[in-house]
Formats: sequence, C-alpha cells, structure tokens
Amino acid sequence: MASLVAALLVILMLNGLEPAMSQPYPNYHADFVDIDQAKNEPKWWQTGAFYQIYPRSFKDSNGDGIGDLNGIADRLPYLKELGITATWLSPIFTSPMADFGYDIANFTEIAPIFGSMSDFENLLKIAKQLNIKIILDFVPNHSSDECEWFKRSAARDPEYKDFYVWHPGKMVNGVHQPPSNWVSVFHGSAWQWHEGRKEYYLHQFVKKQPDLNYRNPKVREAMKNVLRFWLAKGVAGFRIDAVPHVFEIAPDAAGQYRDEPRNNGNNDPDDYGYLQHIYTVDQPETINLVYEWRAVLDEFKDGDERILLAETYSPIDIVMQYYGNATAEGAQLPFNFRLISDISNNSNAESYEWTILQWLQHMPKGRTANWVLGNHDQPRVGSRLGTDRIDMLNMLTTTLPGASVTYQGEELGMTNVWISWKDTVDPSACNTNPNVYEHYSRDPERTPFQWSDDIDAGFSNASKTWLPIGPSYKLINLEKERKEPLSHFNIFKQLMQLRKETKTLQVGETEVKAVNRNVLGVKRFRQHDFTYVTLLNIFDGTETVNLKDSFADLTTDMEVVLVTDKSQRKAGDFINSENLQLLPKESLILRSTSTYYTYYSNGEHRQLPIEGVYLLVAQVVLYLSYRRVLTLNSVC
Ligand code: GLC
Repeated sequence: MASLVAALLVILMLNGLEPAMSQPYPNYHADFVDIDQAKNEPKWWQTGAFYQIYPRSFKDSNGDGIGDLNGIADRLPYLKELGITATWLSPIFTSPMADFGYDIANFTEIAPIFGSMSDFENLLKIAKQLNIKIILDFVPNHSSDECEWFKRSAARDPEYKDFYVWHPGKMVNGVHQPPSNWVSVFHGSAWQWHEGRKEYYLHQFVKKQPDLNYRNPKVREAMKNVLRFWLAKGVAGFRIDAVPHVFEIAPDAAGQYRDEPRNNGNNDPDDYGYLQHIYTVDQPETINLVYEWRAVLDEFKDGDERILLAETYSPIDIVMQYYGNATAEGAQLPFNFRLISDISNNSNAESYEWTILQWLQHMPKGRTANWVLGNHDQPRVGSRLGTDRIDMLNMLTTTLPGASVTYQGEELGMTNVWISWKDTVDPSACNTNPNVYEHYSRDPERTPFQWSDDIDAGFSNASKTWLPIGPSYKLINLEKERKEPLSHFNIFKQLMQLRKETKTLQVGETEVKAVNRNVLGVKRFRQHDFTYVTLLNIFDGTETVNLKDSFADLTTDMEVVLVTDKSQRKAGDFINSENLQLLPKESLILRSTSTYYTYYSNGEHRQLPIEGVYLLVAQVVLYLSYRRVLTLNSVC
C-alpha cells in the first residue's frame, strides 16, 4: 500500500511538471558565445567592449587642433574607467590625408601629425598596464598615390609594375576613355589617367587612393608583412577596412574589364548608386584572402589570441563566410552593422527582433556575435534613432550575446554636428556640390570629443580645431555627465560593469522577442543562474505587458537591475512580470528572483525550478529506501 502511495506521489509530481516541461521555446538559440574549453570561460574578445577611437578627434596633446597619440595615451584611463576591453584606432600611418588617413603612404610608419613610433610604443605600454588592447586599422584595398610602391609602379619598376590595377583604356575617336564604366564610392569614374605611365589606374575611393592589385602574389605578401610588422610590436589585432572592395573581377580573355549593369532609378552616372557593383565588390576570392590574413595572426602564438574585425556591409550570407568555415578560420568578428543598416527611427519591436535574429540565425555554430551602433562613416546613433533612444540601444547591445562596439562619443550621447559647405573636408562630400553635400558628408559624426565645457570642449587649446566643435558641448560633455547619475555616460559605465560581472550576460543563452509591436524583450539565461530580461519600450506610448506570455520560466517578481532617466523606477525595485507597465521609451534590465536548473532532452529545451528538482530527487530516494525496507522485511 505504502509503495503504491509513493509511486503515485512520484507520478503526480511528474504530471504536475509536465506543462512546464513540454512547452517548446519559440526562438531558442544556444552557442552564441563559444567557450574556451581549456579555460572554461570566453576568450578575451568574445564578450569584449570594443571602442573605436577616431584619432584626429579624440584628444589633441600639442595644440595643433588635431588629435594625436599622446592625447590617446593620456586618456586611456578614461577607457579603463568606462570598462573598455579593446580600442581600435582609425589609421595613424603616414598619409597625405586625402581621406583622413585611409590613404596610406607608408603602412609601417606613424604619421607625424599623430606623433612618432616611440609615442606609439608608449601608448602600447600604457595600454598594457591598463589591460586595454590596441587594435589597428588595416587598409588593404588601396594605398596613397604618394606611396613609394605607387610611384615605382607608375614608373614601371619591374618589382612594382603590377602592384596596382593598370589599364590602357579605350581609344574612342582618338580620345582616351576609361576601361569600363565603374564608378568610385566617392563620386565619378573609378579610373584615373596617369600621365607618367600613360595608363589608367583603378581607384574605388578617391583618385589619391589607387587600388592595390591582389591578383599579384607580391602584393599579397607585402601586405601580410604589414600585418606581421605591427603584430610583432604587440598590437592585439586589426580592423580590416573596406573588405568587399579588395578584389575586382579579372580582365577577360581580351584583357578588358566588363561594364557593370545599371541600377534603375538612379540617373546620376557619377553616383556610386548608379551601378550594380557585381564586378568590383564581394568577389569570391576576398573570403579566402581574409582566411590567409587570419593565418598570419595565428603565426603569433605568444600571449592572447590576436583578432580580426572585418568591415563589410555585404549581404548576410556573404558576411557570415568571413567567420571561417570547417577548414579555415576567418575574422573572429565580421562587424554586424545590421542595427545601423536595417533599423530606422520608425522600426518597431518586430523589426528589431527580425534584425537581431537575422544575425543570430545565420551565424555558423560556435561563432561569436557582435553589435555595432556607430562608426566614423555613419550618422551618430542619437541623430539616426533619436537622442531618447541612446540609452536603450546601449542596453540592448550590452545585453545581447557577444561583443559590443561603440564609436567614441556615443557613450556621452554626442550627436551629429552640422558643418557648413565651407568647413566641409570629407572627400565624400567635397566631391559633390553645396546643394547635396550634406547627404554624403561624414564630417558631422567626426567632430572632436566633448571632454568638458572648456575652450574647444577640452579637446584642444588651438584657436581652430580641424572640424568645428559641436555647439552642444556645454550640455553634452564628460565632465558634466560624470556628475549626473543617469547621464548617458553613467548608464554606459554601469552597463559595462554589469556585463563584466554577470556570467549569464556573457555566456548565457538568448531569446529575443517582440513582446508586442512596441516592446522588445531579450531574455538571457543559464544553468544554476539568474535569468535577465532587457525590455525596450521603443515608442512614446505607455505599454502594459505580461512577460510570461512571451517568455517561459520567469519568476513572477523580478528585480530591476538597471534603469534610464525615462523610468520612474530605480535599481533594487521589484516588478510583477505578469503585469508590468512601461512608460514612453522606458527601458529596463530585470533579474529573476531565483536561479533555475536547465536541462535538455531530445533537443527540446526545458527548465525546472531548482527546488522542484531537489524535491523530486528526495521523493525518489525516499521511495527507493522504503522499497528496500519492505524487501528486507519480507526476507526476514
Ligand atoms: C572605409 C572607411 C572609410 C574610408 C573608406 C576608404 O569604409 O571606414 O572611412 O573612407 O574605407 O578607405
């Protein structure tokens, strides 16, 4: 009789648990952060806080109105305070600055305007002491036309003759014409006639940026040696510039380059959007080249793993190939620009969900996600998506799995600065005209960092800085934001700290859901740990939500961990997850009030409260001991 009761008890318990166990997860993902098995923790870059420094605009130490390496070295403690893992620097190499450093005249020399090699070594030393990694910008597609390689190539020096993409062009009615209709990213023909060599050279960007010829093995080797030079100095890796442009199609059997087809709807033959770039962008050879560069990094086995961040706005299936494949490793982090390219001011929670899942669902197993909100080529987050969404977006990128990438000044909520045509210096805008330049200019997001409300916003003491200081600097600057508990800066800092100390955010599993059309939710969870939910009320309405309708296994009470100034709550408050009201643009990070035990069965994912599991085990043990006593009794 007693055994029957015990058996019934167990059956009842199992039945009671059934509904919770059988509920499949609607969008369940694992393995977004592949753990370093040897150390049982993520590698240094996998949950890294990356920070882009645009050196011209970060900190000027010598009063010439242009930022420099000593300025950066001086402010590295600021990055430490922010909680930054690694910083990538836009180019600091010798350059005539036709594209502000992206036109390199010597790939292994520091531009005097930024300092000297010993300044750079000093920067590396300080960074090492602070445990901040330094990542350089590797610009493989082109050099400057003032690079020695180009001068020799133009002079047909046998060693360098084919270092660039040269072509005699076509002769039409006795007049030289470019070899093809290809258009430069920065307006006008991508071919430039060279009087010395009497041939055209290709430049996918400005004419002072001739494209290197990657079909020449000598070029590939020369550029690998550039990587080796800086790796030997101790840099942690590279951001690779303009990856999709590196290869263009090879000339056909007759030695000609094919024209690219028209893009209907664009009628300006000088505009990059005029053509479909099927011969100059995303050529299949590029993927393998990135794998070769990764192999160069892997030659350096001393210390921490060196990494590649690849700049590509290509279609998702191409971007994913940059991670590597079954036989070759690629870039650890091909930049994820989807929050820039696919999200606009009007995007609702469903668009956010789709955009985020697009990356996570395409990402090959075992690779690491990353989230980029801005860079020196894109309008600032506050100007793109609204200043009242800055904090919620930082919350989102910090609590999604993987690494986050922040462009300098975004942590303060700096916005685009209007620059007059007279003050405009970006070649992308200068190559157009006063009527349309604003559409092309990247100057607005490149203005000097706003350190304080002093002269030049504390960036410099020059009478004129290279780009004007943003007029908002009295209100938006680091010094002021330090004093305000819920400033963008302080929220950013708390976010970095939270991720650093929260294993669930580092390696936990992820569910992303539009809780309704206006509210996005991100749930992070792992075995034996607290569950976290980030909530973003994207628009201006008040929303009431039941989180349990969207996410399984949440505790009814949840603790508020992080708030922004859009909230009337504060950290430490408790909310009811079944009935939660969110104010306009309110965003929160919540934590469950108990930990969970997670297990898997038949690929289905289920959770039980840890207390339930203990109870179940205790009942089974009791039942078995009881059976044993009964058996012994009957033997006696
Ligand atoms: C990349 C850089 C951009 C530069 C271009 C040419 O897209 O981010 O600033 O102008 O490449 O090097």
